[in-house]
Amino acid sequence: MKVCVIGLGYIGLPTAAMLAKNGNTVLGVDVSPAVLESIRKNGAPAEEPGLREFVMATLDSGKLTLSGTPEPSDVFILCLPTPIKKDRTPDLDYVESGMASILTVLKRGDMVILESTVPPGTTAGLVADMVRSKGFDPMKDLDLAFAPERVIPGNIMREIQELDRVMGGLTPRASERAKNLYSCFVKGQIHLTDATTAEFVKLVENSYRDINIAFANELARISPGLGINVWEVIEIANRHPRVNIHTPGPGVGGHCIAVDPYFIIDSAGPELAKLLSAAREVNSSMPLVAVSRLEDEMGTVKGKKIALLGIAYKGNVGDPRESPSLEIFRMLEKRGAKVTAHDPFVKISPVPLHTLEETLRDSDAIIIATNHSAFSKLTPADAKKLVRGKLMFDTRNVIDPAAWKKAGWTVLILGDGKSRVKPE
Ligand SMILES: NC(=O)c1ccc[n+]([C@@H]2O[C@H](COP(=O)([O-])OP(=O)(O)OC[C@H]3O[C@@H](n4cnc5c(N)ncnc54)[C@H](O)[C@@H]3O)[C@@H](O)[C@H]2O)c1
Repeated sequence: MKVCVIGLGYIGLPTAAMLAKNGNTVLGVDVSPAVLESIRKNGAPAEEPGLREFVMATLDSGKLTLSGTPEPSDVFILCLPTPIKKDRTPDLDYVESGMASILTVLKRGDMVILESTVPPGTTAGLVADMVRSKGFDPMKDLDLAFAPERVIPGNIMREIQELDRVMGGLTPRASERAKNLYSCFVKGQIHLTDATTAEFVKLVENSYRDINIAFANELARISPGLGINVWEVIEIANRHPRVNIHTPGPGVGGHCIAVDPYFIIDSAGPELAKLLSAAREVNSSMPLVAVSRLEDEMGTVKGKKIALLGIAYKGNVGDPRESPSLEIFRMLEKRGAKVTAHDPFVKISPVPLHTLEETLRDSDAIIIATNHSAFSKLTPADAKKLVRGKLMFDTRNVIDPAAWKKAGWTVLILGDGKSRVKPE
């Protein structure tokens, strides 16, 4: 197959490389010259275990080539961003512009697969309408399908091959054709349904996780007032064979869990999507819970130097999108603190980043906002000669509190002490 993959980000690049490695001729397309340049030079724009070497090998083999514009192909796969707008409604502009770019080269008999996470009805609506505008019958002239990705950054190269997939075409023929294509590298089962159901399944999976984390975060808000440590509660409760409560933290970030529930809320309306709306509200409140806790302890953060460790939305990845750390950074600065941030994984950051030493130097308090393994290995000795104040606030429960307390530090862990939420 000649396959054109539109959008070479976290999802598109490994997908393009996997298809190229497994018998297809693939053209990877991205509008960003910087993305294309860094793939050509380093194999990938972002850190992802095993990806760089894999991409470089497929580029060397000539099976994967790169371009800024699509070319005629048998299959077009769209892996484009689908963020939310400021008003928390879905932003489908990237999908629209990606579709517009392939319409110029699309021909009868081609297949178009949407991988981007989208509101239910997008393949049957927006995508079908756009091909119709070019004179194609979306049910007969082309095969249109939705095939979402489930991988987790940090483990993409394994999961992209091993996880089960859901795929849905506008017709049974389109579903089967999508399944045949991905079968060249997907070892998990491929479950076929219709396009709109597949779109909803993808949103439901991430919404389930958002609700579960919201439950953990709600417990983290409740427990301290009862004099209870939430981490102990969750650990013991999870020993029940049918209980699996996720981990509390300073909020939920990333391009998926913090975004996808809004697609359902927007489609269904907040009257129907009550639980989803409440979960979003709880998770979005957590940066304020964290900042309030620190303020309570310090009296005020005004004029204080706060060392913020972690800008990525989760541990051991370099992705700062929708990260609660950014909200914490903004809230602390708004309260007059001088915030210095460090993240060993994030390469492109919306806030200035510093070395660990610069970040800790003269700080009055440290706040760990991301569960990078490097932060769990941090010891009081690493900070000793640098800091001004010995206050450690671990919002991820990654440090060994006993070791820090023994060295004379005041240690706060999110969800284990007195916590009062102050309005912004
Ligand atoms: N990142 C994840 O872990 C993950 C997991 C599952 C699903 N998804 C979904 O996959 C989709 C893609 O996410 P991502 O994380 O790969 O995004 P990304 O931002 O990493 O990559 C998107 C790429 O598309 C390019 N692009 C934008 N408009 C373009 C256009 N018109 N033509 C060609 N290229 C264009 C951008 O330059 C960028 O390189 C999203 O809908 C996301 O929700 C992501």
